[in-house]
Amino acid sequence: MIGTLQLVAFIAIQQPALGVTGLRVEYLSNPLGIDATRPRFSWRIASAERNTVQAAYQVQVTRKGELIWDSGRTASDASVFVAYAGPGVASRTRYVWRVRVWDAKGRASAWSEGWWETGLLSPSDWSASWIGTATIPNDSLASPAPLLRRGFRVTGAVDRARIYATSLGVYELHLNGQRVGDQLFTPGWTSYGRRLQYQTYDVTNLLRSGDNAIGAMLGDGWYRGNLGFSGQRNLYGKRLALRMQLEILYRDGRVERVVSDSAWRANTGPVIASDIYNGETYDARREQSGWTSAGYDDHDWAPIALVDPPSSRLQAPESPPVRRVRELKPVGIRRAAAGETIFDLGQNFTGWARLKVRGPAGTTVTMRFAEVLDRDGSLYTANLRRASQTDRYTLKGGAQEIYEPHFTFHGFRYVGVSGLPAAADTGTITGIAVSSDLAQTGSFETSDSLLNRLQQNIVWGQRSNFIDVPTDCPQRDERLGWTGDAQVFASTAAFNMDVSGFFAKWLADAAADQHPSGSLPWVIPDVIRGDSVNGAGTAGWSDAAVIVPWTMYVAYGDRGLLERQYPSMRAWVEYERRQAGPDFLWQPGWQFGDWLALHSDDPSYPGATTLTDFIATAHVAHSADLVARAARALGKESDAALYEKLFQDVRVAFNREFVSATGRVGENTQTAYALALGFDLLPDSLVPAASERLAAAVRGRGMHLTTGFLGTPQLLPVLSATGHMDVAFGLLMQRSYPSWLYPITRGATTMWERWDGIRPDSSFQDAGMNSFNHYAFGAVGDWMYRTIGGIELDPRAPGAKRVQIAPRAGGGLTHARASLETPYGSFVSAWRIEGPLFVLHVTVPPNTSADVTLWETTSDRVSGLTGVRGVQQRGPNVVVTVGSGDYEFTASR
Ligand code: BGC
Repeated sequence: MIGTLQLVAFIAIQQPALGVTGLRVEYLSNPLGIDATRPRFSWRIASAERNTVQAAYQVQVTRKGELIWDSGRTASDASVFVAYAGPGVASRTRYVWRVRVWDAKGRASAWSEGWWETGLLSPSDWSASWIGTATIPNDSLASPAPLLRRGFRVTGAVDRARIYATSLGVYELHLNGQRVGDQLFTPGWTSYGRRLQYQTYDVTNLLRSGDNAIGAMLGDGWYRGNLGFSGQRNLYGKRLALRMQLEILYRDGRVERVVSDSAWRANTGPVIASDIYNGETYDARREQSGWTSAGYDDHDWAPIALVDPPSSRLQAPESPPVRRVRELKPVGIRRAAAGETIFDLGQNFTGWARLKVRGPAGTTVTMRFAEVLDRDGSLYTANLRRASQTDRYTLKGGAQEIYEPHFTFHGFRYVGVSGLPAAADTGTITGIAVSSDLAQTGSFETSDSLLNRLQQNIVWGQRSNFIDVPTDCPQRDERLGWTGDAQVFASTAAFNMDVSGFFAKWLADAAADQHPSGSLPWVIPDVIRGDSVNGAGTAGWSDAAVIVPWTMYVAYGDRGLLERQYPSMRAWVEYERRQAGPDFLWQPGWQFGDWLALHSDDPSYPGATTLTDFIATAHVAHSADLVARAARALGKESDAALYEKLFQDVRVAFNREFVSATGRVGENTQTAYALALGFDLLPDSLVPAASERLAAAVRGRGMHLTTGFLGTPQLLPVLSATGHMDVAFGLLMQRSYPSWLYPITRGATTMWERWDGIRPDSSFQDAGMNSFNHYAFGAVGDWMYRTIGGIELDPRAPGAKRVQIAPRAGGGLTHARASLETPYGSFVSAWRIEGPLFVLHVTVPPNTSADVTLWETTSDRVSGLTGVRGVQQRGPNVVVTVGSGDYEFTASR
């Protein structure tokens, strides 16, 4: 038993006065195999004391124990994205770094240590060939997944071993009978023609002395499988190929490489077909038992063929990989009319089912996947369109068999299983949820259970659709990186999870796939390039080129990313400028417009169509404004002036064309007001009248929204910023159709693509476009965090260096709590109403500050003000400035 004194000592050691934690290099902690040659370091400061700031830091970097860079004691409060400035880094090298900080009182922390390892920085580091099967697969069909293998010898004591691997198609590596790593769908999905990722694995512990064997299985994946809604396949190429390099460093200093080359042998195995949309067919009788173990006899395997190298650049990942992230147990099992056994996993998600089965060899079990059930209780699959998402497993017989597919994923809640040799139980099927493995950074909870479910549905929508690329949906024959969806959801996404590396990766593809004209394709990576109108940029979609980098900058303070994307941002706005022409009005051709705005079946309501020239012109102004701000943040003053002028010119034209002297905007739709006010396009004098009209438009629809993809994200922010908090809350808490909570009253566990995916009369919307897992309308999450939670990031102090905390009560809520793990640490804003009192608990991390607003009160009616940095009365509100620490304010109103 630990004595009290020891315990006290232990706690004291655990919580030193000043510490450094959360060390990261670029976007990852201790990354293995990155390309950055001037990597940036970030750390967090731990301190139990209030008002802790970093006055200075020191970073040291060593290589093999030798100091190669010492920043020295640097007077600075920078603790996020501090760039390495030592000598050039070498490939395949481990660097150890450590950091310590000083606070304002001159006290130093202890050192904290982390590391990073470089990947293969130059094409000449690769000696491996590209290899594949000699037989060329049929172009038009999914063909059996090739297995490639070879044996090799380990001839001494191993110091360390790494594998660098990539593929055309997706790959799974096995070494001595063990799966290498836990990453899924490697090498990931990028603009394959230009950028191809490779992964680095530490395989030191998988090697053994003497005989070893390595093998790879390749799948069609995004590369040659079905992709796109017009039935295309082979979009990037027809032949699957592997490039891998195992590098063994022996203790005696020798280096040996085992690479993909002509010594490998090829065969096919149990995966008969595997396709992202259509699922996997697996025949366990065709497993090649022991094929990646030493001693396996591959004499009857075929020689491999060398495959022409792709022209793309090999790059290390910036984003965390896709992994299995959750397991779901069935909450119900039923027999459906057709004889299928239906497992309900209780949650719509992305992944697959793990099947446990025992029975005679040759028995085939079929698993079909669906998001919802039809009215007769059978699987509803019409909305999957051409994606059959069906897995088939043929048993080898004997002991219990466990199967999970390899190169496919499904969007589903229900699994319909047929062909089971014995009665099913809850152990037969387990749901395996997969996602880009992003750390959850935000939480949001209130006194209202439906609102809490909405938050969970948004998070599940994000988890389901962040599969290496931000996709529209995970179930039908689409699953593409739709730019419009991504831009409206990006800020919400950054509240829920750490998406810094995830979007950095996607933005690199956006820049890579951007047309020479500056136009951004509809989807990134661009796989619908055959479409004749795709060359034409679309408002609200192509604006992702500007909006997403800016959003990431505000959320994470990543100036390097903003700088890297700046040419792409600028190119898009220049494209818009040309489209708008001398009158600064963009009269575009084909546009998505305010996609999925309410088109009413109700004859008394004509629908909420906002004209596309209005939407397009508003977006030119908005993107010009954001590029001006980005230019200013980057110190590009002349560009800032240039785009500020464009913003003003478009604003003037917009007002002339679309705004009346009495504040009537466009076609008087909710979206027209939301965009005009949200993008700051109206003169101050018209804001009250216009916002009053917006509020009236909402009330006139019985407190219902009519907005689509583009209007929805702006709707509540505009209402709350213009003094219509009651209307904003009225919309959010609305349960009847159309509203955010309506789907929840119909059992939704993810965000729906359409407000009426299931109509009030229980019928389904048009199966041609009716996904139950689309995150776009989940963009309301941003407002929930910022307004109810009250955590508002400040673009002038990006990355949450300074934050506004100004939570609003309303909608009958009696308490709410939001937290956000930022690059500096965790902010918490938690409030409750206790009779006449409003009690607000705030946590502010070290090296940041916050302005906390207590609404409609005066400082003599606020308690908890001791130890704060400042108190001000601003109009009817009290604003308290605080440094780091925990605070509890009680205000009587
Ligand atoms: C996708 C969207 C996308 C849209 C373009 C749809 O098929 O699912 O979410 O933004 O097309 O309008």
